[in-house]
Amino acid sequence: MEMGHNVVFYFTSTGNSLFVSRKIAAAIGECDVISIPNFKDRELKYGYERIGFVFPIYALGTPRLVRNFLKDMNFANNGRGYYFAVATYGGKGEGGVFNEVHTLLKSNGAALNAGFKVKMVHNYVVRHSLTEDGVRESLEQAQGDIDYIAESVKEKSLTDIPDENPFGMSHIYAIRSFMRLDRQFVISENCEGCGLCAKVCPATNIKIADGRPVFDGRCEHCLACLHICPNSCMDYQDKTQNKMRYRHPEITVEDLIQCVNGYSLT
Ligand SMILES: Cc1cc2nc3c(=O)[nH]c(=O)nc-3n(C[C@H](O)[C@H](O)[C@H](O)COP(=O)(O)O)c2cc1C
Repeated sequence: MEMGHNVVFYFTSTGNSLFVSRKIAAAIGECDVISIPNFKDRELKYGYERIGFVFPIYALGTPRLVRNFLKDMNFANNGRGYYFAVATYGGKGEGGVFNEVHTLLKSNGAALNAGFKVKMVHNYVVRHSLTEDGVRESLEQAQGDIDYIAESVKEKSLTDIPDENPFGMSHIYAIRSFMRLDRQFVISENCEGCGLCAKVCPATNIKIADGRPVFDGRCEHCLACLHICPNSCMDYQDKTQNKMRYRHPEITVEDLIQCVNGYSLT
């Protein structure tokens, strides 16, 4: 990791949160952009000025993988930095994410100074359907908010952080995510065993055995595998057949592979 004056830690499955992270990094300059699944340290060692967390809202809360990262990290060396969180979302975007992040930071030597939300494209296609036009419109609309957030982070603007989380819903999600959600994936005959699904799984929960993906019971339900499949061979129950798949247009397949384990397509 190269030393920089700012750092953004992100989690993404379809690229929205990586796109936002890069925009913020470009606006503030001298910024490391680090994928949470790739970051194995337990301590933030450098004297960063701005420390950010960018992630999607899952079930009105913070994804379990992000919560676990915040729980395990020690921020005491950077306790006086400017801490910000950006939650990307696709639906109503309600939820107690900033209270969750603030509470976890407080246990580990820091505190959240600002929280921003930005509506992007809903990638939970188990419950939603996308169209090309809808995606284009959503991303166009998001642009102003992203610029505003990047400028606010640059200025180190403060926002109110709620003292309580009236939702408490992400805990329900956390329980659900232990219920072997990955048993519900259906792989079609057309699967060629290319292994892209395994390469983008942030939980490294997928292996290719006998030319087919096999799940290991540690699914985060992020749907990265379902969206990345070049032949749409992966479905969730009977809920996603023939529905449009999504990846942020400025994020490449290679970018998403790098988010998880840094191995390269070539
Ligand atoms: C499991 C799951 C749960 C989600 N729950 C919500 C939600 O409660 N509210 C919402 O507005 N969007 C929800 N979304 C949509 C994502 O937050 C949104 O599409 C996000 O921008 C995806 O970011 P990414 O491309 O960086 O992964 C959910 C998505 C997934 C996969």
